Amino acid sequence: MTDSHEVRIGIIGSGGIAGAHAERYKKVPGARVVAVADVIPGRAEQFIERYGFEGAHAFTDHQEMLKEEMDGVSVCTFNAAHYQPTIDALQAGKHVLLEKPMAVSLAQGVDMVRTAKRTGRMLSIGFQTRYDADVINARRIVASGVLGRIYFAETGGGRRKGIPGGTFVRRESAIGGAILDIGCYSIDTAMYVMGNPKPLTVSAVTSDHFGKSPVYSKQAWGGKMRPEDFTVEDFGMAMVRLEGDAVLVFKIAWAMHADTLGATFFLGTEGGLNMDEMRLYRDEFELGVHTDLPKTSSNWGDSFYRKIEAFVAAIRAGGPAPIPGEEILHSTAIIDAIYRSAQERSEVRVEIPPV
Ligand SMILES: NC(=O)c1ccc[n+]([C@@H]2O[C@H](COP(=O)([O-])OP(=O)(O)OC[C@H]3O[C@@H](n4cnc5c(N)ncnc54)[C@H](O)[C@@H]3O)[C@@H](O)[C@H]2O)c1
Repeated sequence: MTDSHEVRIGIIGSGGIAGAHAERYKKVPGARVVAVADVIPGRAEQFIERYGFEGAHAFTDHQEMLKEEMDGVSVCTFNAAHYQPTIDALQAGKHVLLEKPMAVSLAQGVDMVRTAKRTGRMLSIGFQTRYDADVINARRIVASGVLGRIYFAETGGGRRKGIPGGTFVRRESAIGGAILDIGCYSIDTAMYVMGNPKPLTVSAVTSDHFGKSPVYSKQAWGGKMRPEDFTVEDFGMAMVRLEGDAVLVFKIAWAMHADTLGATFFLGTEGGLNMDEMRLYRDEFELGVHTDLPKTSSNWGDSFYRKIEAFVAAIRAGGPAPIPGEEILHSTAIIDAIYRSAQERSEVRVEIPPV
């Protein structure tokens, strides 16, 4: 760091979400974006101009960008390109804020965490949902032990018509569809609230009934998606066995003939928590009672700001990573196993190598 006030940042990948990083870095006191890389020629230059990053340098090769002096890097590439820029940035001695999903395979995630450990750099994963008040409160409630031992949880979400299009639906850039895009949030939230138990086995199903249809491809967000562009899944569900004799059921859809796939909830031996309503169920005087906790509608922009602010603060403080990559390995392993199980059409074991 040049002085105790300035944190110099590079951004790799200057597409959609990089703009959200840029806007927040501009607002975090003492943070400065000094370099941007995008493989599409001219894109990084346009980005620098659009956000007014005076004096920032543009690159088409992230390795060249990493030769510059900077403290941290936001990796904002599409899923298929999360791995190499992250490894290269860590090896170049930069701290990394990597967009979700952490990795497209468990092996890549493990390698990232090992590289962070070896280089002594931070690897933080961009789940801004961790800053939502309901998520923080649900974790506090479960950690207090008021639910007893959690034996069952359900999580997920769904959109009636919400196929994103663009790089999100092509296997070569996204690798996976609804599960990697939005399912990763649901799994992260449930795992975090439960205290990150180890996954043991997964039995899963995926399908692609909507993305390939001419009607739904016409309605993709961002438009201009041809049915043949769609090469990932738009639906996924899984039953995950967790250590401690617990089970997590997960469901996600980018499109479906329904409004919702149900709430995120946790059932424990002493109580239950419905996170969609923030309603806590218990017995008192042998009677079933419930308490309605304050429910906060999460504000994406605020949570996003807090994620960027926390990364900058962690760089300044010399760590720890706000959302450590190592902690996300369990949910990365679940997603890896979901795709394996769906492909094999049978339950699969989850083995997480030591890091
Ligand atoms: N946290 C959130 O709320 C949120 C929201 C949207 C997207 N995302 C995540 O952010 C990532 C990017 O999404 P997006 O919507 O910005 O995608 P995008 O396709 O709009 O942008 C990705 C950019 O990365 C560039 N790129 C690819 N490989 C590169 C490389 N090796 N070096 C430099 N640039 C490279 C592409 O040219 C493109 O400009 C995805 O993984 C997505 O899951 C997160």
